[in-house]
Amino acid sequence: MEHPLSSEDSPTPASWPLGLDRLAYGGDYNPEQWPEEIWEQDVRLMREAGVSMVSVGIFSWALLETERGEYDFGWLDRLLDLLHENGIRVDLGTPTVVPPAWFYREHPEALPVSREGVRYEFGGRGAICHSSPAYQQAAASITEQLGRRYGRHPAVALWHVHNEYGVPVSACYCDASAEHFRRWLADRYGTVKELNEAWGTTFWGQRYNRWGDIQPPRATPTACNPAQQLDFARFTSDAILENFKRERDLLHRLSPGVPVTTNFMTALSQCESLDYWAWGREVDLVTNDHYLIAEADRNHINLAMSADLTRSVAGGRPWLLLEHSTGAVNWQPRNIAKVPGELARNSLAHVARGSEGAMFFQWRASRYGAEKFHSTMLPHAGTESRIWREVVALGADLGSLRAVRGSRVVADAAVLWDWQSWWAQKLEWRPTMDHDARERADSWYAALYDRHLTVDFAHPEADLSGYPLVVVPALYLMTEAASRNLREYVAGGGTLAVSYFSGIVDENDTVPAGPHPGALRDVLGLTVEEFAPLRAGETVRLRDGGGCELTGDVWSEFVVPAGAEPVWSYLDGPAAGHPAVTRHSLGDGAAWYVSSRLTGAQLDPVLARACADAGLAERQIPCDVEVVERVGEHGRYLFAINHTSADAVLPLAGPGAELLTGVPTDGSVTVPANSTRVVQLPR
Ligand code: GAL
Ligand code: ZN
Repeated sequence: MEHPLSSEDSPTPASWPLGLDRLAYGGDYNPEQWPEEIWEQDVRLMREAGVSMVSVGIFSWALLETERGEYDFGWLDRLLDLLHENGIRVDLGTPTVVPPAWFYREHPEALPVSREGVRYEFGGRGAICHSSPAYQQAAASITEQLGRRYGRHPAVALWHVHNEYGVPVSACYCDASAEHFRRWLADRYGTVKELNEAWGTTFWGQRYNRWGDIQPPRATPTACNPAQQLDFARFTSDAILENFKRERDLLHRLSPGVPVTTNFMTALSQCESLDYWAWGREVDLVTNDHYLIAEADRNHINLAMSADLTRSVAGGRPWLLLEHSTGAVNWQPRNIAKVPGELARNSLAHVARGSEGAMFFQWRASRYGAEKFHSTMLPHAGTESRIWREVVALGADLGSLRAVRGSRVVADAAVLWDWQSWWAQKLEWRPTMDHDARERADSWYAALYDRHLTVDFAHPEADLSGYPLVVVPALYLMTEAASRNLREYVAGGGTLAVSYFSGIVDENDTVPAGPHPGALRDVLGLTVEEFAPLRAGETVRLRDGGGCELTGDVWSEFVVPAGAEPVWSYLDGPAAGHPAVTRHSLGDGAAWYVSSRLTGAQLDPVLARACADAGLAERQIPCDVEVVERVGEHGRYLFAINHTSADAVLPLAGPGAELLTGVPTDGSVTVPANSTRVVQLPR
């Protein structure tokens, strides 16, 4: 069979699955669990459901390399041919997330070690020390075999390196990792003296004379040096990224024209250990896995946030949802099933926010192993099931959305996010255990969502000039470059809204000389004389000049204005009588500061004032009706997802066409309860 692309190496790697001319629809397909007769049935049903791509081979190392250097590719050859004959594109995995038992027989030292010194065992998946030379070599070798054999196979549309780097184990504290960490440090600092300065090792007499004396931050009797821990977190993300890049580079060489991805988990609820700003730059196509927190109230907000974060790490370019679930998962405390229609709503919510399709874990329900109670596209109940009917319907829906391919999401505002600042805030001995950077990001995001504003996430040093409003939720660690960036943004006419515990330390967890917040004093026009965290359950009241009263908890502090005007002040609590929320005019813009923890209806009045400064008008859309716009060459696509149990009517600017029902619209569209509508409007 002929490869759809010429055999010449393409100079820039492709960024969309080769030969896939529709939105991607399908899932993880692990057919090695069944006799081959079943495969024929699988493929017939895939066609019935409109499946356009499946991910295969992700966990198959032990089946492909049965002992070191002994290979069995026959089954995968037959599988790829079958899929190809049926027009189903293949996202081919490199199976390097589960080295086989024989590998650990030879290399038990490649099993990862926890901070407490526990060596994990084989028997689950992902037991990998990413600094192990034996692992690196074996992973490169099986990847090379696959690249040679299938690099130009006509079925192969995309390479899926590894699986969800960063979980279940990311950091390893073994001796090989310690060695690797020292090399990374030597690269970053050049000399031990520089390292001593950056880490502030004078304190508690931690001064080092030799590289060899430096260890990973293993379990210590009391708080471990925060800069050491922060660097170890950075090292961990970088060390894992090196392993991705090694496989990627091999595949680029052996499989020209086929993009290489690895599935991210950008949701802050799912993976903490990777700096996805750096990772996003290294993949040809950003792909993401998202799982709802099934029991959480309004969990569609976490979904939207994960989708926005994914698009942002993709630099606004199209991305792809590579995994989510058709119904319940099996690894949460209570695996609540999705309600009818939720599967489509979830899928289309990802598409609304830039995903070029929707894929699932997994195609057919496993009969054995750890994930047999996880929902699938083809459940144990078979095709006589609600889930199957919804899967077929979604395939048809995605078929009608072909036109949205390549269009870009329109954002109203930006939220600053930095994984490194998050890591720093999770270290020991902070002003209060009740402060949580992720909670602040979730909370501000939800407030923006409830105002029906679509947001991009941005790195603190990114160009912000295109956004009328930038929100900064607890950005504790801030570099000088970020500080300059925010000053220029506001002076240039932007509106900034900043949470407490922002701009407190530099990249080494060191407080700049002078009062807090060192990096933001001039942009906010204030200093903070003293933090005054609250007792568990304690609240404080805030009031503005017009009598608008708000309630905060967790945090208060003594704000000393230096140019900023107090807008809300504390009525009670430790800082009673002092400013609580301030506004500072700087150049052509304004910077808001919120010194207590405000959430939901308590946060909204402050956000409303910042939105007014930014010229972001209020939108008359019912709560929990999600409206997002994508713009492409052939029009604007208005996605309206109704998460409520009442129909909603949305006004439209002019005549258009609803793509899922094929019905023309004029002036408005009705979005039935629990459903989605996608209206194409002229540009
Ligand atoms: C993902 C993983 C899949 C499957 C799924 C279950 O994190 O990549 O292989 O385990 O979770 O929800
Ligand atoms: Zn290790």
